[in-house]
Amino acid sequence: MHIHKFEKIWLIFGIGSLIAFLLILGYGAFWKGTHPQSHGVTIDPNNIEAHEAFQPDNLGLTKVDDDKYIVNIVASAFNYNLGTDDNGSPVKNIRIPKGATVLFQVTTSDVVHGFNVAGTNVNMMAEPGYISSLETVMKKAGTFTIVCNEYCGMGHHMMYATVEVYE
Ligand code: CUA
Repeated sequence: MHIHKFEKIWLIFGIGSLIAFLLILGYGAFWKGTHPQSHGVTIDPNNIEAHEAFQPDNLGLTKVDDDKYIVNIVASAFNYNLGTDDNGSPVKNIRIPKGATVLFQVTTSDVVHGFNVAGTNVNMMAEPGYISSLETVMKKAGTFTIVCNEYCGMGHHMMYATVEVYE
């Protein structure tokens, strides 16, 4: 069978694109551990505190077991509420031991915000009326910045907190 030269080029290009696409998808999903966040867990956006996880005392980091933690966060313009420390100051940094399993639960009290722990596989969208959650293992030590990657207004770039993973 004779295949025309241009046909051959396009055939190779087409199959090559498909393979490249699958490799990129596979790299993200299996190697980097990127998964879609949870969906369908609802919350009353006007009464977030009715949900146990988002009561002021339960915000921020909670140790639930050896090497198991929960982090509850309320995003709002333009802040990540991680609770307060013993002095009543807002917590801006949470410390987690390397290798720990962490369940991040995020909601928002106003508009759509992002919740990306830069440099990890934690990357979610916080939508009013929903709880976004993702469980992950903190595999790398270091200080990771939580950033909002959904434009949410004038102070969008000021939304900031850090996750410190220590050895
Ligand atoms: Cu919050 Cu951008």
